[in-house]
Amino acid sequence: MVYLKTEEEIEKIRTASRYAMEILFYLKEFIKEGIRTKDLEKLCEERLKKSKKIKPAFKGYNGYPYTLCVSVNEEVVHGMPSDRVLKEGDIVSLDFGVVYEGYYGDVAYTFAVGKISKEAERLIKVTEEALYKGIEMAREGNRLYDISFAIQSHVEKNGFSVVREFVGHGIGRSLHEEPQIPNFGEKGTGMRLKKGMVFAIEPMVNMGRSEVSIRENGWTAYAKDMSLSAHFEHTVAITDDGPEILSRV
Ligand code: MF3
Ligand code: CO
Repeated sequence: MVYLKTEEEIEKIRTASRYAMEILFYLKEFIKEGIRTKDLEKLCEERLKKSKKIKPAFKGYNGYPYTLCVSVNEEVVHGMPSDRVLKEGDIVSLDFGVVYEGYYGDVAYTFAVGKISKEAERLIKVTEEALYKGIEMAREGNRLYDISFAIQSHVEKNGFSVVREFVGHGIGRSLHEEPQIPNFGEKGTGMRLKKGMVFAIEPMVNMGRSEVSIRENGWTAYAKDMSLSAHFEHTVAITDDGPEILSRV
């Protein structure tokens, strides 16, 4: 069931989403050579405790044990905070969600550790652009896979590939609601988009082939060919005036 949100509900999702993005950018300041990924988890938890009205969305979700997902280099999503030390040239994707008064916000962003290769920079740039191309299609009257198609075309035109095993999703009273929003698809197909729909749109893009494998921890997805992977995510509402990025800060 895809349900439409009222203005009051969207306000709560906006609050959750902004908190999530603010905390992600707070964490960005600590992304430097020498920091361990579990230090980022700790900083995130401490920061969360300062805002009494928000709770982490991921911790305990399907048994996921952490507040933050930290995916480094070839890791696509669901990287677990660990003793891994970041080094110059790495790229690191942070994925983070919170719940506020029963409503969820979900965001992700890929950051560079110090100086990275030109090709890694291009991967990050193209993935973020693909997210905005997808968001641009989130309008009343368009179809769901117009979003998917816009993302896929931009990525493939630039010589990269979209991950197919993980998708964007509706969001609201749950972290994951219908519909699923693949990052590939055919223009002009899928359900009609309506005002009041709220989506977490999240392209995951590999520099090499699109196939992923899962690590022994049962969670962490990585590019099978060990190429770099980037991930960007915003929570977006469809309004009378087109898409509104609720997680914009
Ligand atoms: N942003 C991811 C998603 O939408 C994060 C989920 S992590 C989990 O699916 F731990 F909560 F599963
Ligand atoms: Co998500």
